[in-house]
Amino acid sequence: MTATTISIAIQKGGSGKTTTAVNLGAALRDLGKKVLLVDFDPQANLTQALGLADDLEPNIYHLIKRLAQGEEVTLEQVIQKANDMDLVPSSLELAGAEIELVSIYGREKLLQQLLIPLQDQYDFIFIDCPPALGMLTVNALTASDYVLVPLQAEFLPFKGVQSFMRSLDKVKKQLNPNIEVLGYILTKYDDRKIMNRQVLEQLKRAYEAQVFDTRIRTNIALAQAQEKGVDIFKYAQRSNGAQDYSELGLEFLERTSQ
Ligand SMILES: Nc1ncnc2c1ncn2[C@@H]1O[C@H](COP(=O)(O)OP(=O)(O)OP(=O)(O)O)[C@@H](O)[C@H]1O
Ligand SMILES: [Mg+2]
Repeated sequence: MTATTISIAIQKGGSGKTTTAVNLGAALRDLGKKVLLVDFDPQANLTQALGLADDLEPNIYHLIKRLAQGEEVTLEQVIQKANDMDLVPSSLELAGAEIELVSIYGREKLLQQLLIPLQDQYDFIFIDCPPALGMLTVNALTASDYVLVPLQAEFLPFKGVQSFMRSLDKVKKQLNPNIEVLGYILTKYDDRKIMNRQVLEQLKRAYEAQVFDTRIRTNIALAQAQEKGVDIFKYAQRSNGAQDYSELGLEFLERTSQ
């Protein structure tokens, strides 16, 4: 097996990146896939959403730092079991990496270096990115085969998407020619809201085939599950959230053709 690595990224906060990392991961787990989730956001929301503390040591920050200093490190030193998936935890300290690593040669490739030795252990590796286009997101994109872009249906997202695409183009040219956009996923979607339907139409007009057919409806159970530290399938199997993310899992497999 060779893992397919997917960054979940967009610089706008609250778009549903972390929620998608947890629950798309869990949907694939329930389809028998081996999933690794990497929390690459100093907010450590993914770590907390899986029921773990946001100050575990060592975490991804320590490994990245040690690797940058030339030490031999492996991700296995920090991987935790959570909700029957594997998780690389994060902490607030990761926010410092941006400045601390500024003079390190090859700093954009540190995460890729950590992930390469794990390729044969997973079907899918998801990297949950922070809401920014800095060095952390560049590291994630450099390490990935695909990027998945969740967008909140409440906001007209085009400016944000365009500036994200410019950053992605740079990464593609300079660091990772293989990365592709797997697609856009509308989150917090409510068919009754005119704005939501408009966003969907505009998105389809602009990006057509790249828009996932599956939309993630607004569902309070998704937020509650996150607070309880479990995925939606363990929290509320029959909720709309579980239904939507399970459908997303199937469409995701079609699109990655595995
Ligand atoms: N479909 C949904 N229905 C209801 N609430 C949702 C839904 N998706 C996400 N949320 C809630 O919205 C908030 C933001 O979602 P999430 O943390 O996934 O966004 P994010 O893009 O990871 O944010 P950040 O950019 O800050 O990392 C969370 O409280 C989450 O529980
Ligand atoms: Mg997040």
